[in-house]
Amino acid sequence: MQADIVVLPGDGIGPEVTAAAVEVLRAVAQRYGHVFRFEHHLIGGAAIDATGSPLPPETLAAARRADAVLLGAVGGPKWSDPKAAVRPEQGLLAIRKALGLYANLRPVKPHPAALGASPIKPHLLNGVDLMVVRELTGGIYFGTKQRSSESASDLCEYTVAEIERVVRRACTLARERRGHVTSVDKANVLETSRLWREVTTRIVRDEFPDITLEHQLVDSMAMHLLAKPREYDVIVTENMFGDILTDEASMLAGSLGLLPSASLGEGRVGLYEPIHGSAPDIAGRGIANPYATILSTALLLRHSLGLESEARCIEKAVGAALDAGVFTADIAPAGRGVSTQAATGAVLAQLQIECEPVV
Ligand code: NAD
Ligand code: IPM
Ligand code: MN
Repeated sequence: MQADIVVLPGDGIGPEVTAAAVEVLRAVAQRYGHVFRFEHHLIGGAAIDATGSPLPPETLAAARRADAVLLGAVGGPKWSDPKAAVRPEQGLLAIRKALGLYANLRPVKPHPAALGASPIKPHLLNGVDLMVVRELTGGIYFGTKQRSSESASDLCEYTVAEIERVVRRACTLARERRGHVTSVDKANVLETSRLWREVTTRIVRDEFPDITLEHQLVDSMAMHLLAKPREYDVIVTENMFGDILTDEASMLAGSLGLLPSASLGEGRVGLYEPIHGSAPDIAGRGIANPYATILSTALLLRHSLGLESEARCIEKAVGAALDAGVFTADIAPAGRGVSTQAATGAVLAQLQIECEPVV
């Protein structure tokens, strides 16, 4: 197959981890006889520095033409002045919105070999396999913002249609998994959450009667997620709750550097990125964990290109690298980890073993 992949490295460790992921995609292409064409474009702080805009029109146009987009991360101290007129993060929000990517899939499945990296007791982690479906283009992130010298406000708004489509996506995913959906809200306080709960209940009752639905308030959910993570299958929630709960969930896997994501809409193009940020504290040192971005390429192959065995081959190769104890500092015992390049090299070596060669 032939596919056009737009790569948006962004800032901080973004270029380091996307370079690793592109190497893996090239190896998969070679192994399976595909042609992947890569086009690199600017986003975030790097784009602000070069063009003044965090999402230059050429970047968005290229993303719209592509079969899939692979993104590193945006942001960093250089652009973090609270008084700054433009911010790197606006570029990321804008591309998600422009491409209509309302469903952000964030799978969390701790790997047995990396359980030691988690601060959670291993017996709680065995068998954990959950999927957070985070609403990505609505809520408080996109409501009207106001600022005066004396006050500030961010409006949180959801329409019925916005809730329906992401809940449908979550239920459809649950059907292919264990058939259980946990919807997370703050319905005891927020009007948007009461609407969320009402719509979710109706969609499941009318369209997914085979799915079991449970509602959970976000504050206690933050606790349950660590206390009994095995009980969850699909978790669906609004934009900001999903952002926060998934950074928390990364501690089940052991590191932010292990969690991939897929952002999907009704359109053709999907965007794939690790859930972590630009990690300014370790950027430029060649020690970032590339596995989250490499695992995001597996999601890209699965969801945008329909290449399931290639996707599995990447997942198996990362698993085998972990089994072999190839750990970057974020997951290594006593922080004595290998470089980004060495971890990538281990995945590339495992690909040769795990993937079906072309016949
Ligand atoms: P962060 O995710 O960048 O880093 C949090 C901690 O996790 C840091 O200690 C970092 O070193 C570590 N970490 C993250 N990814 C890692 C990896 N692959 N390997 C090893 N360690 C890793 O969060 P932050 O420090 O709160 O934010 C930094 C910047 O990133 C901010 O400007 C923020 O807006 C931005 N950000 C961007 C995205 C994105 O582009 N999708 C996501 C989150 C944060
Ligand atoms: C993420 C990030 C972004 C978000 C920021 C950088 C806008 O934290 O992708 O998780 O909050 O969505
Ligand atoms: Mn986040």
